Amino acid sequence: MTSAPAVTGEQTDALRERFARVAMRSAPSPMAVLDHGRGALVWDVDGREYLDFLAGIAVNALGHAHPVVVEAITAQSARAMHVSNYFTTPQAVAFAERLVRLTGFGESGRVYPANSGAEAIEAAVKLARRTGRPRILAFEGGFHGRTMGALALTGKDALRAPFEPGLPGVEHLPTDLAALEAALGPDLAAVVLEPIKGEAGVVPLPLGFLLEARRLTRAHGALLIVDEIQTGAGRTGDWFAFQHELTAADDLPDAVVVAKGIGGGVPIGALITRGAASELFTLGQHGSTFGGNPLATGVADAVLAEIERADLVSNAARRGEQLREGILALGSPLIAEVRGRGLLLGVGLTSPVAPTIVAEALHRGLIINAANDESIRLAPPLIIGDAEVDRFLELFAAVLSAVRLEATTP
Ligand SMILES: Cc1ncc(COP(=O)(O)O)c(C=O)c1O
Repeated sequence: MTSAPAVTGEQTDALRERFARVAMRSAPSPMAVLDHGRGALVWDVDGREYLDFLAGIAVNALGHAHPVVVEAITAQSARAMHVSNYFTTPQAVAFAERLVRLTGFGESGRVYPANSGAEAIEAAVKLARRTGRPRILAFEGGFHGRTMGALALTGKDALRAPFEPGLPGVEHLPTDLAALEAALGPDLAAVVLEPIKGEAGVVPLPLGFLLEARRLTRAHGALLIVDEIQTGAGRTGDWFAFQHELTAADDLPDAVVVAKGIGGGVPIGALITRGAASELFTLGQHGSTFGGNPLATGVADAVLAEIERADLVSNAARRGEQLREGILALGSPLIAEVRGRGLLLGVGLTSPVAPTIVAEALHRGLIINAANDESIRLAPPLIIGDAEVDRFLELFAAVLSAVRLEATTP
């Protein structure tokens, strides 16, 4: 993550100072101190308004303070927030059933509910170990989280190095089918990949890669585990990004990992398996205190139901195209390309000015993200319409002009 110069203000500065005193040194200085939001808008503690085109990094699928989320939290907290995994609740069952239906995993589909993306990835790592095979393949530039197992899969040396030794048996490959083919073998447990590498700057897998990875893993008896933590919950214009490419029932992944947008802001994740992968864990081999808790599953089920009801998956596809065309039509010399799909877009830049663009945007009331120095990441809530798209394009055009002017003024 690249941090950008922050906004200032009386309340903001005071809270930033207090934060700096108590936050672990791993936390970056906050760009702003946010107070509340509504839809795609959010306000900071000094009353400044922002158009939120990051949505908590692809989390707030329904935007801020959506009535469905407010109602689900209110109703569930008044009923039962937690029961322990000696019990279950109607909410936990409905949530798992919905995920199985939406993934298309059918009769053999099973769900392990977790509390975050990294925890759901940890479950996937343990699933891979249950094959009895020692090796797991992941990809360079990929991001799967920061707990030790998830970190081991993450393809960024700089993130892993301070915490060595890591999990044994994990290798990182270039995103290249020849490299994948060469790395296969009878000792391979699983291939773990993101359909679009979000943290790397919204970089989609090459066309056909996922299908070929499916064919190769199946031929070698290895699991194909798709990390849909950033791409899932309708964000790319299908319920899960793998569904754009793996359409035949036989080609479905063995496991999918979700989090972020499925909870609409409530911390939750899940590992969803199918076929033989659903039989790998035996009784008592995995679990967590909060996993499957009725508050989180009740809210997530309501969020997913609202995405279905309002057809926000189609909206993500349509608004994504509108944004892509609109951004390209700005004709800024700073823009090299627009990558990604639906409402997970990466604007590739012609020079490393992403942090400057993000800072300028923030000062003008627009929240976007620099995934790296050359990439702007956009992940607005799935509820956006014409008004938000128009306002974004207007703000973004002004930001790009200002940054360009700054760069060319001696
Ligand atoms: C693709 C992907 N996998 C895993 C994670 C980790 O999720 P969490 O931050 O909830 O642990 C992220 C978070 O950014 C992600 O984008």
